[in-house]
Order: sequence, then structure tokens, then C-alpha cells
Amino acid sequence: MGQIIDGKAVSAKVKEEIRLETEKLKEQGIEIGLAVVIVGDDPASQVYVRNKEKACETVGFNSFKYALPAETTEEELLNVVKELNEDKNVNGILVQLPLPKHIDEKTIINAIAPNKDVDAFHPVNVGKIMVGNYDFVPCTPAGVMELIKESGIDVSGKECVIVGRSNIVGKPQAMLLLHQNGTVTICHSKTKNLAEKTKNADILVAAVGIPNFIKGDMIKEGAVVIDVGINRLENKKLCGDVEFESAEKVAGAITPVPGGVGPMTIAMLMKNTVKAAILNKSK
Ligand code: GUN
Repeated sequence: MGQIIDGKAVSAKVKEEIRLETEKLKEQGIEIGLAVVIVGDDPASQVYVRNKEKACETVGFNSFKYALPAETTEEELLNVVKELNEDKNVNGILVQLPLPKHIDEKTIINAIAPNKDVDAFHPVNVGKIMVGNYDFVPCTPAGVMELIKESGIDVSGKECVIVGRSNIVGKPQAMLLLHQNGTVTICHSKTKNLAEKTKNADILVAAVGIPNFIKGDMIKEGAVVIDVGINRLENKKLCGDVEFESAEKVAGAITPVPGGVGPMTIAMLMKNTVKAAILNKSK
């Protein structure tokens, strides 16, 4: 049976470090503010936003929540983003995705000031990640890297297989693993012989958004398995993209859902927000 990687514990450790740093910055007269914008009433997004607010409280940030109705127009949302770009009390801006269909996500992301883009979704920040010279690391992939570190495995030279190619996880995840000298394969819905690929992985990152998609027989004995999926089943239970029961018998280390990657994403968001405050303090 594999080691269970406790994302909650690692996240608590990271948040405690941030709390202490925030305290020190406060003594120097620097307050840290994170603005979180949510449009509409998607229940999953509401939970994520609430958790982000709670985390701000824990680490001592000022949090500014903008809960806008589903009918908000693109122009109205752009105006909110512009206001936040100019607000000196706001160091980081996060617009919770997905947005309602009538709002173009790219237009909104492009409007966020890159130096406040704590999600690292703006093309400027995406480009910086590509060339390996970045200020903000996208939160979920950064959290995954912390958990891999926690498992005690050195990425260098390892076969890293990512299932999923989203802009939020799959693609930036590939870059972060590559920067640590992993040999990276990105798989997706058109990949042929998927199990052959996943069975080759020393490090397997599942980010497809399909419940229990990766089974134990698709995993190499002793592999580190990181499950990014958060899927709500009909019985209301949360489950990941990895079938935990069969996978944990084969994996060397594995993250649970919930309590794995989820709490790490938020801890990394807090880390990026401190970075934003430090970067922008002289401006
Ligand atoms: N929706 C799902 N994950 C994320 C995330 O990391 N950031 C934002 N802004 N929205 C999300």
C-alpha cells in the first residue's frame, strides 16, 4: 500500500509560514490584500471562493470579495477588474472561473494587470513560465510540485505523465516538471493506448475531470500518483480522477480526494499574493 500524501497537512505548514511572513510585513507597514471576484452562483465556485476567503483570514490578508450576479455584462466585469488593477489596497486579483457563457474568459484574463495576476493566467505570465523566468506559479500545478516534493521523489530524469491538457493545470504542469528536468508526456482525449503511457510514469498527474478515470492497472508499481480531479458524484460524494481503492495498492505514494491537491492550490494562491505585495510595494 502506498504512502498517502497529506495535502491538508502540507497546506497548513505553508499557510503558517505565510502567516508569519505576513505578520512581519505588517510590522513594516505592508498590508496584503487579495480581491476575489465571482460571477453567478455556480455551487462549486462558491465553495472554492469561500475557502479562499477563509484562507485569507488564517494568514492575515485583507480579502475583498466581489460577488456579482449571473447577468453581469462583460463590460461591467471589465470595469470591476480595471478598478481593482488601480486599487493600492489590492495586491492580487483572482476572477473565479468558469464565467457565465456570455462573458469571454480570455478578454477578462487579459484585462487583469499581470503584476496582480496571482492565478498566473495572463498571457504575459504564461509566457514567463514557458521561458522559466516567472514571478507567479499557477496555483494548482505549484501545489502538485509541493506534494511531489513531499513524497520524497526527485523529479530529475523521471518519466512524468500528465493526463489532461488544460491551460489551468495540464500545460503549466508540464512546464514546471520540465524545469525540474522531468521527461514529460502530456496525454489527452485523443491519446492512443493511454494505459501504455500512464504505466510508464514514475510520476503520474491526473487532471482530466472524469471521475475514477485512472484505474490501478494503468499505474506502474511504486509510482507517485497526484490526483487533481475534484468530481462530485450523484450521491454528492467527492471523488478524484483516480480510482483510489485500486490505485493505492499499486502506487508508491498517492494523494487523496479530498485532502490532497485541493488545499495546496489555496496555499499556493496565498504564496503568490505575498509575492505580488513584495513585487509591487515600491510602486
Ligand atoms: N476555477 C478552477 N480552478 C481555478 C483556479 O485555480 N483559479 C480560478 N480563478 N478559477 C478556477
